[in-house]
Parts: sequence; C-alpha cells; structure tokens
Amino acid sequence: MSTAYLNGEFLPLAEAKISPLDRGFLFGDGIYEVIPYYRGKSVGLVPHLQRMLRGLAEIEINCDKTLAQWSELLDDLMAKNNGAEQNLGVYVHISRGTDSIRNHAYPKNISPTIFCFTFAIKDPEPAQRTKAAGYTVTTSEDLRWKRCHIKSTALLGNVIHYQQGYASGNHECLLYNEHNQLTEGSSVNAFIVKDGVVSTPILDNQILPGITRGIIIDCIKADGSISLEERVITMDEVHNADEVWISSSSKEIAAIIAIDGVKVGDGTVGPVWEKAFALYSAAKFN
Ligand code: PDD
Repeated sequence: MSTAYLNGEFLPLAEAKISPLDRGFLFGDGIYEVIPYYRGKSVGLVPHLQRMLRGLAEIEINCDKTLAQWSELLDDLMAKNNGAEQNLGVYVHISRGTDSIRNHAYPKNISPTIFCFTFAIKDPEPAQRTKAAGYTVTTSEDLRWKRCHIKSTALLGNVIHYQQGYASGNHECLLYNEHNQLTEGSSVNAFIVKDGVVSTPILDNQILPGITRGIIIDCIKADGSISLEERVITMDEVHNADEVWISSSSKEIAAIIAIDGVKVGDGTVGPVWEKAFALYSAAKFN
C-alpha cells in the first residue's frame, strides 16, 4: 500500500479521506502537478513547483509553503514509498479547501486541502527509433476553456477529449482551435518536424506550459544542431509533417506514427525524434 500525504499527515493511501464539501470535489477548484521521479531523481522539480505556485497565485489560493518546503515534503513522500528503487510519479493536488456550504464565491478563512500520492511510471522508451513505441492519435476541435495555461484540477474538457482518442483505439487526441491551428493534446503538448525543423505552438492561454516541453526546447537550443521554432502551426502542417511528437511528464517525448488512421511520414518513429530524445534523456536530470 502506498503512503500518501493529506493536510500535514502521512498515511496509507486507502485511509486518506476528504469532505464532500471540499471545493476540489464540488467545483474542481484547485491546482495540481504531476512530477516524475526515476529511482529517486526528479525531472523538472523546480519548474513544476514554480508552475504550481503561479497557478495557486492566479486563482488566489493562499498556501503558505515555500518551494523549499514543497521540495522537502516530496522528498519525504518519496522516501516513504521506496522512491530510490522504482520509477514514481508524484501527484500533488491543492484545492481551495472545505467550506460549510456550497457557494461559488471564494470563501474567506478556509485552509487549502493538500493531497499528494505516488504512482508507478514506466521506464523511459528505448532510445533507438527502431525499438521505441509509436503512438497513434485522433483529432478534435479543442472545446476546453480559455484558461488552459492554468493546471486546474477541473479537467472534464480534457477528459472528454482524451476519451475521444481512447474510445477510438488511440493513445491521445490532438486538438485544434477554431482557426484550424494546433493547440496541444488532451494531456500532452505537441511538436511537428518538417524538413528537419522542429516546431511547437507558442505559449498562450490555449495550452499548458508543459515542463517537458520546456526541457525539450532548452536542450535542443543548447545543442544547436536542430532548428526549433515556437510559432502558430496549422493542422494542414500537422497532416503534412515528417514527424509529430507529443510530450508530457509521464510520456517524455512520444512519437506519433498515425493521425486519424493516416501515417505520419513513413509511419515509423523518425530520426529527429531519436536525436531529440537522446538530448532530452541527457538533460532531464540537470
Ligand atoms: N498532463 N498539456 C496538458 C493539457 C497536460 O495535462 C499536460 C500534462 C501537458 C504536459 O505537461 P508536463 O510536461 O508539464 O507534464 C500538456 C499530466 C501529466 C496529467 O494530467 O497527468
């Protein structure tokens, strides 16, 4: 049984209980993070925590823990879950807290509910393109909200889009806005490669500023051998790309080999993926 953290206490996950009047339960009124740890070593811990603190500030949840205190709490959670011996994701969830009534307005004088638990994550993909798994996706107009930069626990829009991909036998659903421009996937950021140039949508309110996305951009730029652009990408470009990738803390960089049943490029994991994945793997613990 894994050990969870709830409001100041470590306890078996099955014993962690919250009130049904918690605003996270009633309204999805909270912020969350998912942070990967490979045998105790975290990937992007500081940027993950910084994004979480930004999200809390943006929706005015007052949680007084500092970045250093969060980092210590997660180290303790890792230690209690044998984190040095396995690959674990940490889920961190902070809701606005439990009120005595259901009222949309932000209540005064309640404390946030803080809940963290760990879950097993897979080993990274093999680094060779001939061995790495290829993923398939479907596509949909992005029907979520206009604040996708906030990592909100209110994920019904994402869940519905994820299910569109899953129900049709795919791993993800790539999303586009009303101008036929790529935004992201239901739980991932997206990249395309054309003629050796990697492109990914710019950061705005239509996408989550993914930590994996940031690490990928930084390591490609630092290496300098692959061109990379952050720009508007049309779905025509997605369909004509040589390679398409998705990224997230749990998937790292995953190559897409088919979109809506049509092959991407020659339908195999591509050479630029292999190069980028090697750069990412070398940089991710920095
Ligand atoms: N999903 N876009 C969306 C909508 C996401 O939900 C995620 C992460 C990402 C990638 O972000 P990052 O690289 O920081 O993980 C992009 C997480 C893993 C989840 O909801 O489980």
